[in-house]
Amino acid sequence: MTENSMIKLNVYSEMINEELKKFAAEKPTLRENICEAMDYSLTAGGKRLRPILMLEFCRMCGGNASGLMKTACSIELIHTFSLIHDDLPCMDDDDYRRGKPSCHKAYGEATALLAGDALNTLAFEAIADAATEGVISAQTAIMLVSVLAKAVGVNGMIGGQIIDLGAEGREISIEELDLLQAHKTGALIEAACVMGVILAGDFEKIPAAADYAQALGRAFQIVDDILDVTGSFEELGKPIGSDAEQHKSTYVTALGIEGAQKEADRLTEQALLILEQFDDNEFLRDLTEYLLHRRS
Ligand code: IPE
Ligand code: IPE
Ligand code: MG
Ligand code: MG
Ligand code: MG
Repeated sequence: MTENSMIKLNVYSEMINEELKKFAAEKPTLRENICEAMDYSLTAGGKRLRPILMLEFCRMCGGNASGLMKTACSIELIHTFSLIHDDLPCMDDDDYRRGKPSCHKAYGEATALLAGDALNTLAFEAIADAATEGVISAQTAIMLVSVLAKAVGVNGMIGGQIIDLGAEGREISIEELDLLQAHKTGALIEAACVMGVILAGDFEKIPAAADYAQALGRAFQIVDDILDVTGSFEELGKPIGSDAEQHKSTYVTALGIEGAQKEADRLTEQALLILEQFDDNEFLRDLTEYLLHRRS
């Protein structure tokens, strides 16, 4: 990654982190605990990839991303909810996330479950409020809510999680694995990119943004599967070897590490090619390659 892109990535992360803190402001009586649990997971760190993608697609498509931080953060609220639930004992049963004990380890299972639920609704509240505050139009808000809701539900991330759980302990075809991944990880990444295009109002670019996102999303999940084997807790901030422990079907079990890496390389090339349809794409090209070689 060039120095400029690295600076831009850090500025984005800092701005998003600052915005996420604002969601933490209020702690109503007798509900302090769940609010603390929400803050705990939201502010623990993370790459903030999804809001960055939304803001960049908005910018590349000629939109003005300033003032859109709250809207962009809606998808990070959803992503954090998905991680809290993903770590629960009834799901992947992981004790660490983003370098800290998982939400349920810190606050208990019931509070973690409800904190995830509350982050889910807060995301849609944030988009609706952006319209009420006049930052985006009501029509734009409706489109964003529609895209995001679909990406979260049974035909999106939640659907992918159920396919993932159903694939534990059995061999699945690469087609089924692609379907699993396209829902589990691809759907939210696609929503992030498409929401950015919608914010810019350049609707013709939606199919290209969606294609890019699906290629990036699959490469991203392949790298996640590889890092579960080759990474370290210090780098990732989450347990390694979790997939094997849960008998997950992953790109590593299906293709081996080398085969999976080749597929991630191929998909990154594909994503970069699709990006050529967008002007002013230098940062996103850098980011796309950076994600292929990431260690966290
Ligand atoms: C982890 O997502 C879960 C997957 C979809 C692979 P990220 O790798 O984006 O997690 P954070 O947000 O950086 O913690
Ligand atoms: C989870 O995939 C994707 C989500 C929808 C949260 P993983 O279960 O592989 O994510 P990690 O490895 O725990 O971050
Ligand atoms: Mg999982
Ligand atoms: Mg997991
Ligand atoms: Mg994983």
